Amino acid sequence: MLEIGPGDTVLVPTYHCPTMIAPIVSRGAQPVFYPLDSTGAPNLEWINQDKTQGVRAILVAHFFGLPQPLTAVRQWCDQQGVRLIEDCAHALFGTSDDRAVGYWGDLAIASLTKFLPVPEGGCLLNNTLLAPFPELHQPKPKSQVKAGFDILHAGINHGRLNGLGTLMRSLFGVLSLFKKKPLHQPPPTESSSPAGFTIDVAQSHQGLTYPSRWIANHAPRERIVLRRRANYLVLAQALSGLRGMHPLRPDLPAKCAPYVFPLWVDHPDPGYGELRRMAFPVSRWDWLWPTVSKLPNDSGIQWSHHILQLACHQDLTPAELEEMISTLKRMYVPKAVESFA
Ligand SMILES: Cc1ncc(COP(=O)(O)O)c(C=O)c1O
Repeated sequence: MLEIGPGDTVLVPTYHCPTMIAPIVSRGAQPVFYPLDSTGAPNLEWINQDKTQGVRAILVAHFFGLPQPLTAVRQWCDQQGVRLIEDCAHALFGTSDDRAVGYWGDLAIASLTKFLPVPEGGCLLNNTLLAPFPELHQPKPKSQVKAGFDILHAGINHGRLNGLGTLMRSLFGVLSLFKKKPLHQPPPTESSSPAGFTIDVAQSHQGLTYPSRWIANHAPRERIVLRRRANYLVLAQALSGLRGMHPLRPDLPAKCAPYVFPLWVDHPDPGYGELRRMAFPVSRWDWLWPTVSKLPNDSGIQWSHHILQLACHQDLTPAELEEMISTLKRMYVPKAVESFA
C-alpha cells in the first residue's frame, strides 16, 4: 500500500524481532536501524542527522503493549513527508497521548494471536492513505476446518471446555496427532539466522477464517485487559527492589493491556537458556538482524540482551505466577555472600 520497493529506505528500531524487518527486505527496500531512548522512543535527533535521504517510512512499535507517546513522531513524519507505520502487534488495546493506539500511523498493524485465543490473524488499519487494501483470498475449506480444530485443540490442551474437553482429549489421545506445545516455542535452531526469515506472501494475503473471526469477535475483551493488567502488577510488585533485576516499567500506564512484562536482568545468561529449556513462559529478542550496528545512546541493543519478556497472559493462575516469581528469584537474585569477618 505504501509502494515501498528497491531504492527505498525504511527506518526500524534496533530493538526488534525478525518479523518486523523481513517484510521490508522482501520488498527489496533497505531497513535502516535507529536508536531508542530509555523509554523506547525513536531518537529523532539522531535520525535528523542526515538519515532521512530516501526514507519513505518509519516503523514505530508500542513495545510490550505499553503505549508509546507518538505526538512528536507524528509531527516529524508530517514535516518530513515520511509515512508512519504504527506497530501495534504488542498493543491490541490502549490509548497513547489520548488517541487510541492504531490511529497514529498512516498504516497500523496488530496481531490477533497475541491477545485472543485464535491461531492466526492480524489487523491492518489504513488511516490516511488513498491506496486501497490489498485483495484477500478466501481461505480454503480445509483451512477453515483446521482453524476450528486448532482453536479447540489449544483450549483442550490448556484444560478448557470441560465435558467436551474430556471427549476430545480421548479422541486426540487415540489419534496421537499432536503433541502438547509449550506456551512459547523456542526458535527453530540455534544456528538459523534472522536474515533467512521469509515471508509467506500467499498466507499474508489470506483472509481470516470464520472460526478465528468468530472467536476474535466474541472473546471477552474486558476480562483479557483486566487480567493482563492484574498479572502485570503482581509481577511488578514481586520483582521490584531485588538485586540483579528490576522491572523496566513498574508503573503500568492507565489505558493499556500489556502483552508481556519486561524485566531487566543484569546477567541474563546462562539462566535464560535454562528457562527456555524448562518451557518457562519467557522470550528475549536476541535474534538481531545482521545489519544492526552499535549506535550512540541506544537502549535497543541493551534491551535485546537484558530484557526478558515474561508472560502476563490472562489465564495465568496465581499459583503459576508465584512459581514464575520464585523461579526467577532462584535463578537471578545473587546469593548473599557469607561474611567470616
Ligand atoms: C513488535 C512486533 N511486530 C510485528 C510482529 C508480527 O506479528 P505476527 O506474528 O502476528 O505476524 C511481531 C510478532 O512477534 C511483533 O512482536
